[in-house]
Amino acid sequence: MSIHTLMRKLQDFEGPRLVPLGADFFAASFFLMKLLPARFMLERAAEQGHLRPGATICESSSGTFGLALAMLAAQYGYRLILVSDWALDRHLRRRLIELGAEVAIVDRPAPIGGLQQSRLDRLDVYLRDIPGSYWPSQYHNPDNPLSYGKVAEQLVDRVGLIDCLVGPVGSGGSMSGTSRYLRALFPDLHAIGVDTPNSVLFGQPSSKLDLSGLGGNILPGNVDHSQFDEVHWLTPAEVFHATHQLHRSHGLFMGPTSGAAYRVAEWWSRNNPGKTVVVLFPDEGHRYVETVYDQQWLETIAGWPGPFPANPVTVAAPTQPMASWSRFAWKRRTLDAVLATAGAGHGQAAG
Ligand SMILES: Cc1ncc(COP(=O)(O)O)c(C=O)c1O
Repeated sequence: MSIHTLMRKLQDFEGPRLVPLGADFFAASFFLMKLLPARFMLERAAEQGHLRPGATICESSSGTFGLALAMLAAQYGYRLILVSDWALDRHLRRRLIELGAEVAIVDRPAPIGGLQQSRLDRLDVYLRDIPGSYWPSQYHNPDNPLSYGKVAEQLVDRVGLIDCLVGPVGSGGSMSGTSRYLRALFPDLHAIGVDTPNSVLFGQPSSKLDLSGLGGNILPGNVDHSQFDEVHWLTPAEVFHATHQLHRSHGLFMGPTSGAAYRVAEWWSRNNPGKTVVVLFPDEGHRYVETVYDQQWLETIAGWPGPFPANPVTVAAPTQPMASWSRFAWKRRTLDAVLATAGAGHGQAAG
């Protein structure tokens, strides 16, 4: 049996379910979006001889990618070491351990790059010490965005012409990959990335992040900035509020990165009638029952319980301070090109 047949037991869980949210507005709602890139990366690594049978996989993750790897590693006989931090909730941790993963927690942020960098530093030690170990490296491995060809194909099959794609950006794989494939058919596709203030992904100065899944303090190679027409930043309180609205309005019990993408996609769809919008919802809400779906926990979040703006503020530069929902016309430029013009606009709001 080929390695391809072997690794595809969970294939039916990889693709999204299509849920209409309004006229010409669809959610691509995943059980666990990272199953697809995780399987694809392991399969390619096995094919190319980088991942030998029974070898140790080491990865830095505090969420869905780690879970996807653990599900696959358990079935296909790999040892898995995950390096994580506070963002790893106790339910997920229990599940990872049940699946046989070894979980290492770092708690001291590196002076540059914060906890994300200290996770990578710890990872380096494992990779050096364990012979034959393999690092999927979801932030930089080109097989991550490549795997989304399958998602693009499924979306086109189900929806047909797509005018706008909206999704959260973490490693960048899902939005960069899906947009790139969709543009082969629809060159005018409008791609919108959703990030959060203090995340360096689209030019904010690095500072502590209170969200996981989207944004980051280190720039991943898999964020292909030239794919994005527009970028939005939402504060954690705005993200959690939107997640509740998604649940209450559509019955979809999803994680906070889905809520973030929903807020932006619903706004764009409302303002562009007749255009077909697809929004990516990466995971379900069960992991967040004791946080995002818990009123007491929400009371501890800055800015909760609102009020929340119904529209974003358009900013002149992605580097400026953002106190609430903000948007910037990225126009498919590289990060360097945007930052070169940001100096002039720094600190100004365009209303
Ligand atoms: C829950 C969740 N949403 C969204 C994302 C962002 O997706 P991507 O890494 O493809 O940019 C991630 C990434 O880990 C995630 O875990």
